[in-house]
Amino acid sequence: MRAARCEVHGTPDTIVIREVSDPVAGAGEVVVGVEAASVNFPDVLIAADRYQLSVPTPFTAGSEFAGRVLSVGADVGDLAPGDAVMGTALSGAFAERIAVPRSALSPVPAGLDMVHAAAFNVTYRTAYHAVTTFGALEPGNWVVVLGAAGGVGSAAVDIATRLGGRVIAAASTPERAEACRALGAVETIAYDSEDLKQRIKEITGTGAQVVIDPVGGAYSEQALRAIAWGGRFVCVGFAQGDIPRIPLNLVLLKGAIVRGFEIRTLASRLPAAVDKGRAEIECLVAQGMKPLVSEVYSLDEAPLALTRVAERRATGKIVIDISSR
Ligand SMILES: NC(=O)c1ccc[n+]([C@@H]2O[C@H](COP(=O)([O-])OP(=O)(O)OC[C@H]3O[C@@H](n4cnc5c(N)ncnc54)[C@H](OP(=O)(O)O)[C@@H]3O)[C@@H](O)[C@H]2O)c1
Repeated sequence: MRAARCEVHGTPDTIVIREVSDPVAGAGEVVVGVEAASVNFPDVLIAADRYQLSVPTPFTAGSEFAGRVLSVGADVGDLAPGDAVMGTALSGAFAERIAVPRSALSPVPAGLDMVHAAAFNVTYRTAYHAVTTFGALEPGNWVVVLGAAGGVGSAAVDIATRLGGRVIAAASTPERAEACRALGAVETIAYDSEDLKQRIKEITGTGAQVVIDPVGGAYSEQALRAIAWGGRFVCVGFAQGDIPRIPLNLVLLKGAIVRGFEIRTLASRLPAAVDKGRAEIECLVAQGMKPLVSEVYSLDEAPLALTRVAERRATGKIVIDISSR
């Protein structure tokens, strides 16, 4: 089969397309014929060996996919060849086939095609729990989403809007912020050219009740300074690269709650929240919710797809259509 291989750790342009042997399903595993895979920011970090978990070379890049079951290993009784599934893995998704544990897969919800299913799980589940489980969104709340044009950000704009929030989409340029209006944002801030704290205060009056932060760096403190009393600041990631150090006097004065979470470990830590979330997310998908996919590339173009994300050019999600050359 063909696969996008990371033979040395480095920038996306070091990734090469190679013929490798087909995976075989071990006990408890499923082999999926991948139809589409989406690029997540951590794929760039894993390729560069800058992620919190290290993957030794050589390996196949890619962590999120959708496709059809080809074969199942011993102990897998509830999936059969042909079933439509979506899943996640640390690596291996940018390939024609992938073998993963059964627990890494879920059915493709009705209403999502393979391209949108491949782009759904990581960003929408992350954004859902950031907005609800950790952000405790209430209808009418002002919600500031940093990195709003990115994968997690665009999903957070979409979900917070659908659940009754008034979303302020914050992104680097006016064009990127404006793109979020299609997902429901009612206000926008271009943080590279506007004063983020000042603008949030102007728009909301008393401050924002919820801040969703997948960006980090200097913008985190500015957003926290514009949070309402009792507001919830949810730390999701550090796409900007710098991990901010927050002055605790801000937390004290604002009675703010600062929470962080990781989708990877959520099921083991808060299983009830994950079950509740699954049901509500299915409901929202049935109502037409789906990720914003702005660019689709072939497997040969996987290095370019990763470069687009690394260079901060993606709006919403970028997908690799595995079947096209
Ligand atoms: N906690 C979790 O469970 C979880 C789950 C998924 C992802 N994450 C993390 O969340 C972050 C965002 O993931 P994502 O998939 O949304 O990524 P993404 O699609 O690449 O979006 C990240 C956004 O951050 C902004 N940004 C600001 N400075 C940047 C920089 N120096 N380099 C790149 N982007 C920069 C960009 O928007 P502008 O250019 O408009 O500023 C970009 O759209 C990552 O750190 C990821 O590891 C965490």
